[in-house]
Amino acid sequence: MDDIHQKLEHLRKQALEGGGSQRIEKQHQQGKLTARERLHLLLDPGTFEEIDMLIVHRTDDFGMGDKKIPGDGVVTGFGLIEGRPVAVFSQDFTVFGGSLGEMHAQKICKIMDTALKNGMPIIGLNDSGGARIQEGVRALAGYADIFYRNVQASGVVPQISAIMGPCAGGAVYSPAMTDFILMTESTSYMFVTGPNVVKAVTNEEVTHAELGGAEVHATKSGVAHLTAKDDLHCISLIRKLLSYLPQNHRLKPPHQPYKPTDELRPRLRNIIPSSPTQPYDMKEIITECVDEGSFFELQENFAPNIVIGFARIGGFVVGIVANQPLALAGVLDVQASRKAARFVRFCDAFNIPLIVFVDVPGFLPGTDQEWNAIILNGAKLLYAFSEATVPRITIITRKAYGGAYDVMNSKHIGADFNYAWPTAEIAVMGARGASEIIFRKEIQHAKDPQAMLLEKERQYAETFANPLIAAQQGFVDEVIDPAFTRHKIIRALDLTKDKNVSLPERKHGNIPL
Ligand code: HXC
Repeated sequence: MDDIHQKLEHLRKQALEGGGSQRIEKQHQQGKLTARERLHLLLDPGTFEEIDMLIVHRTDDFGMGDKKIPGDGVVTGFGLIEGRPVAVFSQDFTVFGGSLGEMHAQKICKIMDTALKNGMPIIGLNDSGGARIQEGVRALAGYADIFYRNVQASGVVPQISAIMGPCAGGAVYSPAMTDFILMTESTSYMFVTGPNVVKAVTNEEVTHAELGGAEVHATKSGVAHLTAKDDLHCISLIRKLLSYLPQNHRLKPPHQPYKPTDELRPRLRNIIPSSPTQPYDMKEIITECVDEGSFFELQENFAPNIVIGFARIGGFVVGIVANQPLALAGVLDVQASRKAARFVRFCDAFNIPLIVFVDVPGFLPGTDQEWNAIILNGAKLLYAFSEATVPRITIITRKAYGGAYDVMNSKHIGADFNYAWPTAEIAVMGARGASEIIFRKEIQHAKDPQAMLLEKERQYAETFANPLIAAQQGFVDEVIDPAFTRHKIIRALDLTKDKNVSLPERKHGNIPL
């Protein structure tokens, strides 16, 4: 018996030491924490229940038989975050470079299976050299086992991936199938093929950071939802993100108790500029409408012409989708449509009501957009809103033009409450463009074409560039004083909190991917 205890003690000590003090030192020198240090910070103190600490790989090839480190390069288990259970894995770069072999993968699959059965979020802290080269196809099989579970878990429990070191090759596809990706700024990268292969195939010279660093994925590809200056920051962002999410698709997000105070926000009356072409910051409107300090923006620097993020309004967790007139006049383009569509689908899957602020001049014209399938990408957003059964509330602050009016959570595609500010312009297009088309002949033949254009533009604007016609048709439910926007949203959230809508029976829809 003593013998067992001693052996157990020895193995546990080995597991805790991971790849040993030198490799841990190297990890620290690179500005990275170890797998266990990360978990210690992530979970509520004293709540970590580790499993499979003694697992070792089963490979003898390439001298691996002599190198068996208990835990096999990944720490797995369960713990609490703000008192709620989560399943976690944290790859240990000090053990075989955190590389993923058969048993390493089996550990991750086990916590994923438990998370799925018990309805708890899955959080992966990734820091790995990829498929364990010595294990060959068994490592690839391990990845596929994880990919399969990522898909089974999608829409059932929230899945969060933090990239805190290398993540290359097919390994990127597990994070890609999770709901949120966070990347540490100077210590992580993600790519399908690294700089050497890129050089060999395309002759392009590129660094790891240029190819797949956090900045690139936060600005160009949109792969990363959040970036963090270091491990500590990354972990605090994961905890914050989770505070908006339900445990699983059957539950509501964690609403906070809220005491109504004076909900009037007079400042909202002065945000829209007098000129319809002058930009303003939609985030000022969002900030005025949400509970103080609660707006948590995602993908801030990717497709900034649309703003997405979580917030609380009157204690309710909501997902915000908003056109941003400060960037590209708030136009919908390929990237903005894709960004918003995925977010809408996440919110819908996890019972998070959607609040949509609209100031959109339309879809971005041009060959670049058409050739990059703005048709299909714009349709993604249209599809995502149309199929969403969560409470949906729209506020049109200024422009709602053309097809983009329909797409941005219009009444016609199932929104529950649609409000317009008196400054709203709901029309097929802007007054100038419209006048140039429908009054072209009159303008051409006028003595003073410019004066005639201005007059026609004024007439068109007077007729259509306002919210009245839409209100008269019932396409907006009410034209509201901007100062009452927050109050109206809280009332609408309260009225729709038990909304229950089912989609027609089918296997699944066919969103234009
Ligand atoms: C086995 C690995 C490994 C791997 C690293 N190590 N990657 N062992 N399989 N994939 C080991 C190293 O041998 C070393 O062991 C230790 O981890 C640390 O690695 P270093 O190279 O010393 O670290 P560093 O200089 O920081 O470089 C990190 C690295 C580099 C950039 C990740 O190790 C690297 O390029 N690794 C290979 C990456 C790769 O090609 N992976 C396969 C990708 S394809 P010692 O004992 O010396 O400490 C893939 C396919 C997935 O993943 C397919 C899914 C469908």
